[in-house]
Amino acid sequence: MRRRQFLGLVAGAAASGIAPALAHAQLSVRGLRAAPGSQKLVGEGNPATSVWAYGGTVPGPELRFRQGDRLRVEVENALDAETTVHWHGIRVPNAMDGVPHLTQPPIAARGGRFTYEFDLPDAGTYWYHPHLGSPEQVGRGLYGPLIIEEARPPAVDRDIVWMLGDWRLDREARIVEDFGNFMDASHAGRIGNTVTVNGAIRETFELRAGERIRLRLVNAANARIFSLEFRGHDPVVIALDGQPVEPHRPEGGRVVLGPAMRADILLDAAGEPGSSHAIADDFYPHRAYRLLDLRYAKDRLRAGRAGAPLPKLAANPLSEPDVAKTQRHRIDFGGGMMGNMPGMGMGNMPGMGMGNMPGMGMGSMQGMQMPHRMAWTVNGKTMPDNGHAHEPILKLALGRSYLLDLVNDTQWHHPIHLHGHVFRVITRDDKPTQYREWLDTVLLPPRSRAEIAFVADNPGSWMLHCHILEHQASGMMAVIRVA
Ligand code: C2O
Ligand code: CU
Repeated sequence: MRRRQFLGLVAGAAASGIAPALAHAQLSVRGLRAAPGSQKLVGEGNPATSVWAYGGTVPGPELRFRQGDRLRVEVENALDAETTVHWHGIRVPNAMDGVPHLTQPPIAARGGRFTYEFDLPDAGTYWYHPHLGSPEQVGRGLYGPLIIEEARPPAVDRDIVWMLGDWRLDREARIVEDFGNFMDASHAGRIGNTVTVNGAIRETFELRAGERIRLRLVNAANARIFSLEFRGHDPVVIALDGQPVEPHRPEGGRVVLGPAMRADILLDAAGEPGSSHAIADDFYPHRAYRLLDLRYAKDRLRAGRAGAPLPKLAANPLSEPDVAKTQRHRIDFGGGMMGNMPGMGMGNMPGMGMGNMPGMGMGSMQGMQMPHRMAWTVNGKTMPDNGHAHEPILKLALGRSYLLDLVNDTQWHHPIHLHGHVFRVITRDDKPTQYREWLDTVLLPPRSRAEIAFVADNPGSWMLHCHILEHQASGMMAVIRVA
């Protein structure tokens, strides 16, 4: 738990709470401007970081709607780069999906505009981010939360969003400009050295004994996988990727989130007033660190809801796949470095290559910048990120049920995301899943498989890709057509 070393920069006394960062529900955001900005990621006393941001802050404005509402957002692109906005996990009409060249032309640099407008069929926790040059654009801070409230939300004392971000910063808190290097692309992706919650390093999160918090966790990192342990607490997962799931304690007591994945948890504040409890992340065992401390106020919340019966969220209106009648397709994910790169010090630490830790030679990392190369494949083919090779790998019939056998034939983790649909995870490594959870992004551990089932009920051309953005950009993506 040597957090400061991990974070590199001494954070000093960072903001004491988190809630104010995203205090306000905004029911009618009309404009969303993507532009360069500046933000204190690492706390007072340290320089601000030049970022790219929606609406001037990282994360971008919290877009909060009611289930069944219609979203209308006019995006203005004030960046020097083309962009698009993708509404991750929302079952949008294809033309609103934000995939450049496939569903829309890019939004031009320096003043381009595009209006997204669509209905919101499902309640839950979602997010938005660019889908063009994503490793750099998301890595510089372009992401924000999109929350769709249930018609009858469960009774909690607070509803809080934590967007987890991961940055590769140098000692002056500047973003290290080695986007797209082959080392990241061919290994675990761009894993950084600074983890933020709602756009800043946090020392503590304040809570009061007796309260029940709905904590919406969103992994907005390019590549980092989180495994959060809430010490002294017993969080209950009530939704995954926005979709209600049978309330349950997470396996091993840890909430595991690959890039783009979300979990809604109920956190009952059962600690003593005045006490402190760490939230630890040990996904990469040799790089465990403390995300922040849950710090209890001196007084108790009277009539708080901690310990109340667990609520059951109403299911979203998803079409149930007829698993007996599915057509089955196998999809193989391949490529990547198969072993250790000699002399690169990878050792037994997949996922944490050299250069992640401050003081370990960021400089040598920058020397590794290489021309864009393809590292990853889907069914043996690699798709370049320029958005032109969009021949579908599968053509699905509208309204039919499908089962995709996703096979990770690599030594790396891959969070695989399907656009436009939500699927049930039926098996993992041939064993039926306990909750048959609905997801839009499924994390495949190295050399593993998962069978997913869904009804192809949304016509159009949809991306299927790894959400480790460096993997996506170096080939691990494909198109599925539903017609
Ligand atoms: Cu969150 Cu294809 O993206
Ligand atoms: Cu991947």
